[in-house]
Amino acid sequence: MKKNSKTPSESSIEMREMVMPHHTNPQNTVFGGTVMSWIDIAAAMVAARHCGRPVVTAHISDIDFIAPIKMGYHVLIQASLNYVGRSSMIVGVKVTSENPYTGESRTTTKAYLTFVALDDLSRPIEVPELKIETEDEIRRFENAKKRVAMKKSVQNTLQQKT
Ligand SMILES: CC(C)(COP(=O)(O)OP(=O)(O)OC[C@H]1O[C@@H](n2cnc3c(N)ncnc32)[C@H](O)[C@@H]1OP(=O)(O)O)[C@@H](O)C(=O)NCCC(=O)NCCS
Repeated sequence: MKKNSKTPSESSIEMREMVMPHHTNPQNTVFGGTVMSWIDIAAAMVAARHCGRPVVTAHISDIDFIAPIKMGYHVLIQASLNYVGRSSMIVGVKVTSENPYTGESRTTTKAYLTFVALDDLSRPIEVPELKIETEDEIRRFENAKKRVAMKKSVQNTLQQKT
């Protein structure tokens, strides 16, 4: 039986970073792998807060690097739960860069990550239902549902070795 349902706002988080030299690539903007690491950590925290269990990343989809982030800029990472299956959870993450001197901000990266909750033997375990209420939450839920269906359809179409 499903445990109590939870709203996305009960697990959503915001994280901030400041771009330092060790985060950058030869163009003096943030290295893509660094952004992916921030995204993965933020999303994992959301998933764990929702299910109250250890979680693992199972899939990352639709990661778009929209704009570079400059050295010294502040970075806002916002993550919230969009969808849950039986044991899986899809988290949407938006990354925004902020020029700390002018206050100018822009969206730089978006991604959707699937996590799976694990029991004490590291097997997938059922997670609480997602209680969606607002227009945005419903839109995100419906889009995530389409992503799940599209992934299944692509998997069925492609001939896979493993
Ligand atoms: C994720 C993992 C636990 C799934 O185990 P599994 O035996 O395949 O489990 P199942 O087939 O029962 O799937 C469990 C759930 O995960 C989902 N899932 C599994 N692999 C997935 C994938 N690649 N993409 C999206 N969802 C996936 C299933 O759809 C299912 O969802 P549901 O319970 O909501 O219906 C397992 O593949 C694993 O441990 N992967 C490595 C995770 C890891 O180490 N991540 C760190 C980054 S490398």
